[in-house]
Amino acid sequence: MHKKLFIPGPVEIAPEILAAMAKPMIGHRMAEYAQLHKRVTDNLKKLMFTDSRVFLATSSAFGVMEGAIRNLVAKRCANFCNGAFSDKWHDVTKRCGKEADAFKAEWGKPITAEMVDQALATGKYDAMTLIHNETSTGVMSPLPEIAEVLRKYPDVVSIIDTVSSMSALKIPVDELGIDCCIFGVQKAFALPPGLAVFTASERALARAKTVEGRGYYFDFIEFATNDDKDNTPSTPCISQIYAMDCQLERIFAEGLEKRWDRHKEMASLVRNWVIERGYSFFPEERFLSMTLTCARNTRGTDLAALKKRLAAAGYAFDDGYGKIKGETFRIAHMGDMQLADLHGLLAEIDRQLAEM
Ligand SMILES: Cc1ncc(COP(=O)(O)O)c(C=O)c1O
Repeated sequence: MHKKLFIPGPVEIAPEILAAMAKPMIGHRMAEYAQLHKRVTDNLKKLMFTDSRVFLATSSAFGVMEGAIRNLVAKRCANFCNGAFSDKWHDVTKRCGKEADAFKAEWGKPITAEMVDQALATGKYDAMTLIHNETSTGVMSPLPEIAEVLRKYPDVVSIIDTVSSMSALKIPVDELGIDCCIFGVQKAFALPPGLAVFTASERALARAKTVEGRGYYFDFIEFATNDDKDNTPSTPCISQIYAMDCQLERIFAEGLEKRWDRHKEMASLVRNWVIERGYSFFPEERFLSMTLTCARNTRGTDLAALKKRLAAAGYAFDDGYGKIKGETFRIAHMGDMQLADLHGLLAEIDRQLAEM
């Protein structure tokens, strides 16, 4: 039995998208691919509010997260960490042989503009990483405030992960001054996993040109050279790009404002349910994520048992990530999910809780 996905990625995929992936194959050096590539990257620019280059990488998000480090850190990187994925990004930075420091906020807390200001004021760094929406803890850091601070440090290249937020709310990449904005597609974007998208500002490309050891597969300069021909350095995941083309069409057909409003409504439904049922939020309330709710298990529910019961009823449920597994649970409200889907899940959780 297929379990309907309410985990924070991968998420449910619309049948039209799955059908788009089954289209006949084309060669990536054929004119048909260049047309597809251009349409997709132009639409991504609209979605991300950017005139920067937008590149398509055949990998999950961490491929590009590692690639960005290899391309953009020349001197020393400030990694801002407040959960499992940002902690891992610091580790990845060091594994790439780069000098780096981790600036840690407690899990459940955001990265603040003050933290970023204090770290960068030391003058030690020429790049910084931040995860906008920490999927492990359900915390959304205040990106506009952080972006404001970043303006004071024009020599610091900003690398921002929007893996679990892009398309769920407005993230105007150019207005925020983000040099490299990265997202994988299996979360807020609601595509099957395997494709990552990233932007590179002129400043990012200028930096990449000066950095040794960029490798090949994620070399930003290779991406830029190929992008001039609406192409990618290596054979791309063409079926995924068909899916992306279809999804962008669907996103613009729904309307960006409507998509953002739908996410607000879904978030508010789940947050109210959490409080009404006597749980509390793991993050500070001001920094609750728009795409998933991470609840503290204040009722002492046997989450492993609940997960098992929900699985038997046809729902995939998440009982917390990493060191906060069991102590928290996460309900995703992202992608193409509708309020009715969440009503269905919450009613089923209520049924199971009553029986337990
Ligand atoms: C915010 C965030 N960044 C990065 C990743 C890593 O993505 P991937 O496993 O697709 O490389 C995840 C995955 O859950 C994530 O939630």
